[in-house]
Amino acid sequence: MVLNLTTLMNTLTLFVMKTKTVKSKRPSPQRKVVTKSSKENLEEIFEDLLKDIYWAEKYLTKALPKMSKASFNEDLKAAFDNHLEVTEHQVKRIEQCFELLDKKASAKKCPGMEGLVKEGEEVIEDLHEGHARDAGLIAAAQKIEHYEISAYGTLRTMAKVLGKAQCAELLEETKDEEAEADQLLNDLAERINQMAGEVGEEVE
Ligand SMILES: [Fe+2]
Repeated sequence: MVLNLTTLMNTLTLFVMKTKTVKSKRPSPQRKVVTKSSKENLEEIFEDLLKDIYWAEKYLTKALPKMSKASFNEDLKAAFDNHLEVTEHQVKRIEQCFELLDKKASAKKCPGMEGLVKEGEEVIEDLHEGHARDAGLIAAAQKIEHYEISAYGTLRTMAKVLGKAQCAELLEETKDEEAEADQLLNDLAERINQMAGEVGEEVE
């Protein structure tokens, strides 16, 4: 009888413990604190992405002269020089966007762009000046352009949704410029890859 009573007490204790555990796992509606609305979170992401592309564009203004200097083909060199000017305008456009948001322009390091630029630097380090190096530089530059097209497309869509029409227009303008630059690189790649594919001596 004593043994049975002990067993009963143990079972009851176990039941109470289990019930408590289950209860504690349930979220209490009173404790749930909503700090930001979904729109506020989207605004935060938008601003964060704007800082990211601001850093990326400024970083590119330092990388493009190096890519131009390393180019063998004159048209490719001219394309990089021209895109440097375009990029400087794009930096200004982002600053305009910050102004429209009534925010101070600030940059946040973009590891994506840093990595893509590094790929271009590796091409310069690994190959001698010539058609093959040019083909490698185009490949790196096109990856950069595609990153930017994607970034500006996302930002443009977010700006529209958030009711920032002027910002959306500026971002769309830049996105179109990036697409033009990519098309020009496509055209250059057609010729330059062809030349690189022919057996010949590279310039030392
Ligand atoms: Fe750009």
